[in-house]
Amino acid sequence: MTALIDQLRQLIGASHVLTDGDLSAYEQDWRKRSHGKALCVARPGSTADVAAVVKACVAAGVSIVPQGGNTGMVVGSTPDTSGTQVVLSLQRLNAVRAIDPGNSTVTVEAGCILQQLQQTAEQAGFLFPLSLGAEGSCTIGGNLSTNAGGTQVVRYGNARELCLGLEVVTADGEIWHGLSGLRKDNTGYDLRDLFVGSEGTLGVITAATMKLFPLPAASLTAWAAVPSMEQAVELLGLAHRYLGAGLTGFEVMNQFALSLVDRHFPHLRVPLFRDTPWCVLLENSDSESEAHARTRFEALLEEAMDQGLVTDAVVAESLSQARNLWHIRESITLAQAEEGLNIKHDISVPISAIPAFVKETDALLAQHIPGVRMVDFGHLGDGNLHYNVQTPEGGDAAAFLRQYEPQVNKIVYDAVSRHGGSISAEHGVGSLKIDSLPKYKDPVALGLMSRIKHALDPQGLLNPGRVIRTH
Ligand code: FAD
Ligand code: MLT
Ligand code: ZN
Repeated sequence: MTALIDQLRQLIGASHVLTDGDLSAYEQDWRKRSHGKALCVARPGSTADVAAVVKACVAAGVSIVPQGGNTGMVVGSTPDTSGTQVVLSLQRLNAVRAIDPGNSTVTVEAGCILQQLQQTAEQAGFLFPLSLGAEGSCTIGGNLSTNAGGTQVVRYGNARELCLGLEVVTADGEIWHGLSGLRKDNTGYDLRDLFVGSEGTLGVITAATMKLFPLPAASLTAWAAVPSMEQAVELLGLAHRYLGAGLTGFEVMNQFALSLVDRHFPHLRVPLFRDTPWCVLLENSDSESEAHARTRFEALLEEAMDQGLVTDAVVAESLSQARNLWHIRESITLAQAEEGLNIKHDISVPISAIPAFVKETDALLAQHIPGVRMVDFGHLGDGNLHYNVQTPEGGDAAAFLRQYEPQVNKIVYDAVSRHGGSISAEHGVGSLKIDSLPKYKDPVALGLMSRIKHALDPQGLLNPGRVIRTH
């Protein structure tokens, strides 16, 4: 093992192979569900160096945990406790390699922070629409490896749909140069789509070519109080009809989720939540003008009020007000973390099934867990809910998780399955859902996944214990 560390030091420079000091930023996951121990953290600075690190590890039979910003929610990017795994951090590979304005594309290295990519695009007069609460620290490589979603999927799709090409270091240490900016290419199997969403288990993404979009002329944000989930779904249908492609965000939040933001971040001044079970955040992006956007938005909200879908609403009057409303939405995860450890679900069902799913599952959980507190929020426009269970008020969170997590997961995932949904809409499987996946995934699909994993990583050294078991 020390021979491998020495070899890595020679390959990428001693200062880029970390073994001492506080490595918890690399060894502990964002939710503090797991604290591992790495053999070392390797921080290569080029694709050739990534390939050299992979080759050396594979030759030594040592497993590799690729890591971007380490903001993942399913314990997928941190090492186990054995002290034998190499964390391969992509953070130094962070250059924007090229922008092709005529092709509306940008080619960027895997460790580039999402927010930096958004800013670079904007400076060039474009929109890069992927947007999520962790955008200040997550990386484009991590976004692609998890096929991240976020708050603009309803209009622009998730990370997969934004990606046109990849550069990947394979488990053999070869480099696949697939940085095509092509929108059409039917020359065989789609390798790009295989690596996107593979959570570091099939290869290491080192760069990507991503789509860019025109900047909207205006963006308006509204916050609406909604009496029920049924009405939130009806409001979504109405918003699609009124705004068409202008509907760029549609997020739902329950009262308890917002009360946690109010409790932990009172300065954010959460609007309307005290008198309504649900609030919805809508965004309308307009290619014409702010006046046009406002007229459409107001017409939508007027109709929604007439139909009783909305009981009260505010439309942000300025960019800073709009940012504040989004900040409240994005703070739910942080407020939940402040409140303590919790059981997270990242589920999707057909949008039409969401109201029945929530009603049935809320009732089942309340039956099993006295005082259960549900933090429900998420991307209703995509049929994706973060359907989270917080420890009953005043309870011991660690003890609660030990006692209830498997039972809660079973109740929720069985309900998801009855409604034809998925147990992970955007965060992925990681290690937290690896044992649930075989119970809910089609067995033929699982078998094909297993064969793909074996073909691409025969020694099982790329992020073992994540997504799919190899033994
Ligand atoms: P990491 O956490 O470092 O890694 C995630 C996975 O990808 C791991 O399996 C890792 O091994 C693998 N990986 C990382 N980089 C590479 C690479 N270059 N090559 C191969 N494998 C790699 N997610 C959403 O989808 N939508 C949201 O709205 C959302 N909101 C969030 C809000 C907050 C406050 C937080 C903390 C997280 C949120 N997330 C969300 C989860 C997380 O930010 C995303 O999963 C993100 O895409 C992870 O990026 P990362 O760079 O941090 O990856
Ligand atoms: C979000 O939508 O805010 C996230 O996916 C993070 C979370 O689930 O907490
Ligand atoms: Zn989300």
